[in-house]
Amino acid sequence: MYIKPLFKIRILERAFVDKFVIKGGNKLYGEISVSGAKNAAVAIIPATVLADDVCRIENLPNIKDVAVIESILTYMGAEVRRLSESVLEIDPRGIKSYNVSCVEMVANMRASYYLLGAFLGKFSKARVPMPGGCSFCDRPVDQHLKAFEVLGAECHVEEAVIELSAEKLTGGSIYFDVVSVGSTINAMLAAVKAEGLTTIENAAKEPHIVDVANMLNSMGANIKGAGTDVIKIRGVQKLHGCTYSIIPDQIEAGTYMAAVAATGGNVLIKDVIPKHLDSISAKLRDTGTVVEEYDEAVRVIREGELHRCNVKTMPHPGFPTDMQPQFVALLSTASGTSRVNESVWDDRFSYIPQLKRLGADILQQGHIAIVQGVSGLKGAPVKAPDLRAGAALVIAGLVAKGTTEIENIKYIERGYENIVDKLAAVGADIRRVTYKNTMDDEY
Ligand code: UD1
Repeated sequence: MYIKPLFKIRILERAFVDKFVIKGGNKLYGEISVSGAKNAAVAIIPATVLADDVCRIENLPNIKDVAVIESILTYMGAEVRRLSESVLEIDPRGIKSYNVSCVEMVANMRASYYLLGAFLGKFSKARVPMPGGCSFCDRPVDQHLKAFEVLGAECHVEEAVIELSAEKLTGGSIYFDVVSVGSTINAMLAAVKAEGLTTIENAAKEPHIVDVANMLNSMGANIKGAGTDVIKIRGVQKLHGCTYSIIPDQIEAGTYMAAVAATGGNVLIKDVIPKHLDSISAKLRDTGTVVEEYDEAVRVIREGELHRCNVKTMPHPGFPTDMQPQFVALLSTASGTSRVNESVWDDRFSYIPQLKRLGADILQQGHIAIVQGVSGLKGAPVKAPDLRAGAALVIAGLVAKGTTEIENIKYIERGYENIVDKLAAVGADIRRVTYKNTMDDEY
């Protein structure tokens, strides 16, 4: 029987599936190096669009999200050279259009919304499909659009495409109704070349906001106050090329810290900025885990029992929402009952049924997860619903007795460079395997 080629490929995609296979129970010992920050990289690469010369970006994480944004810029006409796994040279001078028409690439990642700010800043116009990415809940863009409107752009959203257009961009006062990382960065991208002064109030303060501002300043921008809740931007006419090295990934570091606390052991987590980890270290200490700080490393030691603690996610410098699922996994074997309050996103607990498959005892009540610590977890097949939830399942799998198989690892690999190698190097029994798909699709 004749089968059309595309159909054949789909059958093959379903027939084979990549998984992480973890045999839990090993304590972790040794050293892990942390890569560059994903959430800084996915903003800094689009920011190069604003330059009139070549930008060299160093310490990039080697992850799917970076590859996607790299291919979007190439598609748009930039010359992108990969000098090594972690260094890109981007010459944006070949970009002649503001119409980002590669819908499928954009739909692959949430952070493609930074193309809006970058193209608007460059051309005073932008046409970008609605972003895709992690789907843990509705992710509105009203604050992004509000910022663009203050700068003089008209915004139209039609058939899943956002169109922005201004005669010319002029500085103004932006007051955000919610503290939003993406809106703050987008406002900076659009305002760096706008005429006059822009003030952003109620700005987000995450480490990668400061990183993007530092990168833009290294291209000749005039941004002051990044890292506080008032950012002032004096528009400049031109931005030149730069060489810029991205900060270490706070959430990757935090994930490995939580993993060591969960399994027990003693691991030096290197190439980090300990200050960025303060809220995570503080909560780990509440669980009885020792966190020692060095100049560019933290050592995490857990020997005794894990204690319960309460966690509430908040914008920086509060406890990061992107560490919430990993902490729920950690607390699932702590003694006593922990309450984890998610205050940033409306619904970020969709992974709880997966953790329950491993034996966790968790009750969701609206924005709060009540985690009743159990004496141990048991391996089972699970599916990663999104990036950080996937990381939580890895942590739970490392703790669980027996074998845990995690499907949908494409989400995890969007944001963690070499997670299998890094964990295996400190003693975890974890492998990435391609299986024939025989599992029941319903779990
Ligand atoms: C970024 C991070 C994401 C993290 C989140 C919060 C990147 C690429 N992603 O996402 O991993 O979980 O910060 O730390 O950096 N909001 C609105 N209107 C808007 C924008 C946001 O109401 O226009 C709300 C959201 O619904 C959410 C809150 O603001 O409740 C925070 O969202 P935001 O900080 O914008 O998240 P992202 O930038 O999308």
